[in-house]
Amino acid sequence: MNHHETPLFTALKDHIARDPIQFHIPGHKRGRGMNNVFRDFIGTNALEMDLINIAPLDDLHHPTGPIKAAQELAASAFRADSTFFSVQGTSSAIVAMIMSAVKPGDKILVPRNIHKSVLTALIITGAHPIFLHPKLDETFGIAHGLSVESIKDALTQHSDIRAVLVTNPTYFGVACDLKRIVEISHAFGVPVLVDEAHGTHTYFHDSLPLSAMAAGADIAATSVHKLGGSLVGASILNVRSGIIDPLHVQVIMSMLTTTSTSYLMLASLDAARQDLVLHGRERFERAIQMANRIRDEINGIPGLRCLDKRVLQDSATYQIDATKLTISVKDLGIRGYDVELMLRKEFNIEVELSDLYNILCIFTGSETENDMAQLVRGLRFIAEGFSKYSRTPEVSVKLPPLPVLQITPREAFYAKTKRVRLSEAVGETIAETIMVYPPGIPILLPGEMVTQEAIDFTEENLRAGLPVQGTDDPEIQYVKVVCSRS
Ligand SMILES: Cc1ncc(COP(=O)(O)O)c(C=O)c1O
Repeated sequence: MNHHETPLFTALKDHIARDPIQFHIPGHKRGRGMNNVFRDFIGTNALEMDLINIAPLDDLHHPTGPIKAAQELAASAFRADSTFFSVQGTSSAIVAMIMSAVKPGDKILVPRNIHKSVLTALIITGAHPIFLHPKLDETFGIAHGLSVESIKDALTQHSDIRAVLVTNPTYFGVACDLKRIVEISHAFGVPVLVDEAHGTHTYFHDSLPLSAMAAGADIAATSVHKLGGSLVGASILNVRSGIIDPLHVQVIMSMLTTTSTSYLMLASLDAARQDLVLHGRERFERAIQMANRIRDEINGIPGLRCLDKRVLQDSATYQIDATKLTISVKDLGIRGYDVELMLRKEFNIEVELSDLYNILCIFTGSETENDMAQLVRGLRFIAEGFSKYSRTPEVSVKLPPLPVLQITPREAFYAKTKRVRLSEAVGETIAETIMVYPPGIPILLPGEMVTQEAIDFTEENLRAGLPVQGTDDPEIQYVKVVCSRS
């Protein structure tokens, strides 16, 4: 495989150079038929590339030309048997991944800290989730991955499990022992599906956690756009042939994908793959070095603490992705969201996310020394300001006990429902989702019994100003609950 080639990107450039007369969609025809201000701002090259699946450019739904060649090169780069491009993010690839593995009523093992797209797939497929409780980190107030033992126990207990899904690494950059999980699941004849939204870079640097394909997983949805340099929303689905049939995956991907696929996004995946193979190692080495350096500096600021190997509970089982910087701010007596706001207002810094206790910054090797210095300056300023006043920190980590599933998410989603005040919903079976996005992990999901702790946690997030969403009522004052059958 010649990774210097970019078959799709090159085919697009050649096509543009031929300058054909366009009697086809898109109607803006190289930007001539669109808002002038927008056209001038975005630039001509991007608009020339904004094409559609005419014959010379191949078709993502049935690739036989440059898209096929680009996907084959991607498969080689990610050490998969087949790779499918997604122009609808990893969310859509995750739904396709789960639809490829389970049918209505099939049992699937999933961690409770799933991304909302996994929940969507559970509702669409009607699969029966067996939720496993991930390791909770009481210091940082976040959930890590699943333990090997919990998966082994569940597989032993439920002989009819059809798939195991793991999120690896997590948003906060913690990886589980995926190789062992794959070995155990395969011993039971069960495929392993990986939500690898935060793992593109793991394919290109040895000191990062093991990638899904290297660990022997059967299928993995990977957000190239998050850490690998493609345009936003351009992701891939990698498949290892065997338990999962790639021909069937192609059909399902096609079912879920728009027929108007963005060639800008597709070409960006082709170009990203070339760059990752040729320069990924060096880029991620820089990211690791920079993140490690800044981590040490931040750990030296009183009141701040970064998630790293030293503070990770159970570091024998879990591995850290050094490019993620999770900074706990709770000892300053303030919320992660407050720090996000202050960094934005006073220092013109945008972080990846914040929650009640932490902020998260990601490193990809594209940061400048100046960016790093500004982050440290901002954090030092905030920490010095707050540590003066908050002798006794008021923020302590509280994680609600995980709710109990009463009926499947699909049953709850389609059930007859009534609207009740959230504050009065204890004991009811909720029919919708409550989550903070990002990271998009449900506090409650359809089918679970509402607990007072889950309500308190939701209200605490709302009070802190965090983006709580998922319910029909945008204010989350009311929720839909399942009407009792009697
Ligand atoms: C764990 C996890 N899975 C899946 C996704 C979905 O990825 P995308 O935004 O590419 O659809 C995200 C997005 O943040 C995520 O954090």
